[in-house]
Amino acid sequence: MNIERALTGKIALVTGAGRGIGRAIATRLARDGALVGVHYGRSEAAALEVVGEIRRNGGRAFALGAELGVPGDAAAVFEAFDAGLRGERGDEAAGTEASLDILVNNAGASGSGPVGQAVPEVFDRMMAVNAKAPFFLVQNALPRMRDGGRIVNVSSLASRRAFPESLAYAMSKGALDTMTPALAKELGPRGITVNTVGPGFIETDMNARRRTTPEARAALAARSVFDRIGRPSDVADVVAFLASDDSRWITGQYLDVSGGTDL
Ligand SMILES: NC(=O)c1ccc[n+]([C@@H]2O[C@H](COP(=O)([O-])OP(=O)(O)OC[C@H]3O[C@@H](n4cnc5c(N)ncnc54)[C@H](OP(=O)(O)O)[C@@H]3O)[C@@H](O)[C@H]2O)c1
Repeated sequence: MNIERALTGKIALVTGAGRGIGRAIATRLARDGALVGVHYGRSEAAALEVVGEIRRNGGRAFALGAELGVPGDAAAVFEAFDAGLRGERGDEAAGTEASLDILVNNAGASGSGPVGQAVPEVFDRMMAVNAKAPFFLVQNALPRMRDGGRIVNVSSLASRRAFPESLAYAMSKGALDTMTPALAKELGPRGITVNTVGPGFIETDMNARRRTTPEARAALAARSVFDRIGRPSDVADVVAFLASDDSRWITGQYLDVSGGTDL
């Protein structure tokens, strides 16, 4: 029997894949057979490590760097993506058509604080990295994406619950959420699905400052009905499902991936 992996022949781009949740997503998609563009902003060494790990395990990946939240960011991402793809496949058609199947908008910036502490620069940065960059990444991705493609946006439970401790962050994720159903409707005729995952607290650098004591860790764990803090793989496994053909009849949705937080 010839067992084919779920994403064999697919090409994926995962933003912010050198660390945290993005790293787990890139690793999982590669394990499922996809060729993965491992995007990084500042963490080049970490992204190269992810690529090395994927290759050592028999998968295919390449790293690409571009800061998000700055003018021209989406075009810079795809310029680097095309260069990486050419290097990997020797494919001169990279960047023209059929050079992408899965876009995961994972990269995100946090730490905006409550309204009283907000400053315009930080507000703008939240919007630029968490909402504007994914919007223009999608715009750049669509001409390259094969019919039947997948877009997965990594949002946050913060957009669906009152989250005053980081309000501009929550608002930027709300903007990202709004993009999902509208794009799903527009792209349905092409068989492209667009979905959002909303993680609760996941053990990454993003919330390390909330886990500095055993008591603080226990309080975060208690937010989930499973009484543990989420792992990056808890999110990556759901993204892998949304990236696969098995999820073909799901689009425009927000999937809560929070371990039953606040139930
Ligand atoms: N951890 C949680 O509890 C949690 C909960 C809900 C939602 N999320 C969401 O999950 C996603 C991943 O977060 P994480 O927990 O894995 O956080 P993380 O460990 O802090 O990683 C953030 C990632 O985003 C990238 N990034 C941030 N700002 C960037 C910029 N300006 N340009 C390019 N890349 C940038 C980083 O890349 P470089 O290091 O290469 O710059 C890094 O790979 C984010 O969208 C976050 O909002 C996380």
